[in-house]
Amino acid sequence: MTILDALRWANNQLKKTGLDSPMLDAEVLLAHTLQTTRAKLFARFNDPLKPHEQEKFLLLTERRAQREPVAYLTGRKPFYGRDFTVNPFVLIPRPETETLIEAALDVFATTDDKERVLIADIGTGSGAVAVTLAKETGAPVIAVDTSERALAVARANAQVHNAADLIDFQSGDLLDPLFALFNTLRRTSPKPVSSVYPFKHLILCANLPYLSTAQMETLLADVTYEPKEALHAGSDGLEAYFRLIRQLKKGRAELPRRLTLLIEIDPSQSSRAVQLIAHEFPSADMETKKGLQGAVRVVCAEV
Ligand SMILES: C[S@@+](CC[C@H](N)C(=O)[O-])C[C@H]1O[C@@H](n2cnc3c(N)ncnc32)[C@H](O)[C@@H]1O
Repeated sequence: MTILDALRWANNQLKKTGLDSPMLDAEVLLAHTLQTTRAKLFARFNDPLKPHEQEKFLLLTERRAQREPVAYLTGRKPFYGRDFTVNPFVLIPRPETETLIEAALDVFATTDDKERVLIADIGTGSGAVAVTLAKETGAPVIAVDTSERALAVARANAQVHNAADLIDFQSGDLLDPLFALFNTLRRTSPKPVSSVYPFKHLILCANLPYLSTAQMETLLADVTYEPKEALHAGSDGLEAYFRLIRQLKKGRAELPRRLTLLIEIDPSQSSRAVQLIAHEFPSADMETKKGLQGAVRVVCAEV
């Protein structure tokens, strides 16, 4: 079997199962099998596959036909121009989340004292947001997740991208590790807190689970392979954000003077998410950001 034969065979197999991009999937899986790039495959169409390569490729194609995501089969996913390791313990980073990155970078660009910015990534998963923001800004980041197995993936990604020195990975619920950090700063400070805080501006990013129970019942087959705790957030999908915003209100005084909250949402949740924030922070300055498809994906609030 040559490379071209293998691609044609896999394209046919995957097409039969109704996948959207069977040839692209076949090319990515074959490039992964041969440890090369898609571009290089095209220059080698007539090369024969070795028996072990053929066997590995057939197996990957069968798994893809069962709707296992390509990113889990290859163990990698590009995000904002960098390659991230992924496995079934972490959500596969989505192109929509690049809107959250752009919004956070816009906020960072407006801050006067860039040396005194702290970024938080709540629900870090693969670490894609934390690593990207650390690399793009050079600012320190605190990255939080409840899943130890996700944090292990995130730490490995930070190492690969030389961002480990900038990111403090913490296991915990929502903002708990952030409050713990500021408590420590306060306790160890001999002076009035405001004058010694190393951070004047907190950019608080969160891509928490936001699917409703109804959406969980109609998931695309590929998405069923992803961790449920990264997807589902109660009957209306806003449970995690509801708790986060309540927690933020309660502890607001303990956090830096300027605080920008950026949350990624499903477009259907935009007015409800804005209401949730306005309920706890009536004078918040808020705006929404649209994603690649032209629908609202991020709510940005100065609280
Ligand atoms: C939608 S995924 C986002 C992953 C990553 N930030 C991204 O954008 O690709 C949500 C993540 O939040 C984590 N998570 C869920 N509930 C949490 C909580 N209460 N506190 C902290 N992390 C939580 C999940 O384990 C999961 O890794």
